[in-house]
Amino acid sequence: MNSRTIIAPSVLAADFSRLGEEIEAVVGAGADWIHLDVMDGHFVPNISFGPAVIKAVRNRTDKPFDCHLMITPADPYLAAFAEAGCDIITVHAEAGPHLDRSLQAIRALGKKAGVSLNPSTPASAIEYVLDRLDLVLVMTVNPGFGGQGFIPAMVEKVRQVKALIGSRPIDIEIDGGITAQTAPLVAAAGANVLVAGSAVFGGGTAEAYAGNIDSIRTAADRAAGGGEA
Ligand code: DX5
Ligand code: ZN
Repeated sequence: MNSRTIIAPSVLAADFSRLGEEIEAVVGAGADWIHLDVMDGHFVPNISFGPAVIKAVRNRTDKPFDCHLMITPADPYLAAFAEAGCDIITVHAEAGPHLDRSLQAIRALGKKAGVSLNPSTPASAIEYVLDRLDLVLVMTVNPGFGGQGFIPAMVEKVRQVKALIGSRPIDIEIDGGITAQTAPLVAAAGANVLVAGSAVFGGGTAEAYAGNIDSIRTAADRAAGGGEA
């Protein structure tokens, strides 16, 4: 197999009272990246955590920290998230008027730059920033909460994003309602990074996490590779 699907567990579904241990447990269970959902109670109707919490758990793993900023404005806080140890910083296309500037600022901090699209935002939002991008994050739920149902109409958007990207080295990441049942739909459409919160942290033990990650990855790889071994 030439590439396998990257699995990025969202710690939003972890036990926050043991966040460091939970990160170690999912890494031990096979996680490739750690997905960190930052919410401000303004851009989305929920509040999670910020750079201080991320910094506190940074030393628990060497795996990439994949930071999903659901905040507006984002620009004033980019340096703080870079300093906290985020490797990939993703802003929402809807979160500010100057997406191109935000992406340049992330790269100027030496980090990988991502843009996220809400379900109602068209794929074309990335058309003029493709050269600034390392990652596109397609939301398959309305951001703000874990445990929501996957929106099937987003599969076509993933195909459109894939076509816009062409041969550029840009990751396509999917976030929201990913399970072993929905993972193949987006993997077949071109996604190579899958975020999952509830479907990874269900069961609450390191052993359960390993089984959960394996079933999502196996289902996605099979769909992405057309059944190749
Ligand atoms: C939603 C977050 C997601 C969320 C995914 O706003 O961006 O990362 O934690 O949770 P599940 O996998 O439970 O849908
Ligand atoms: Zn997220």
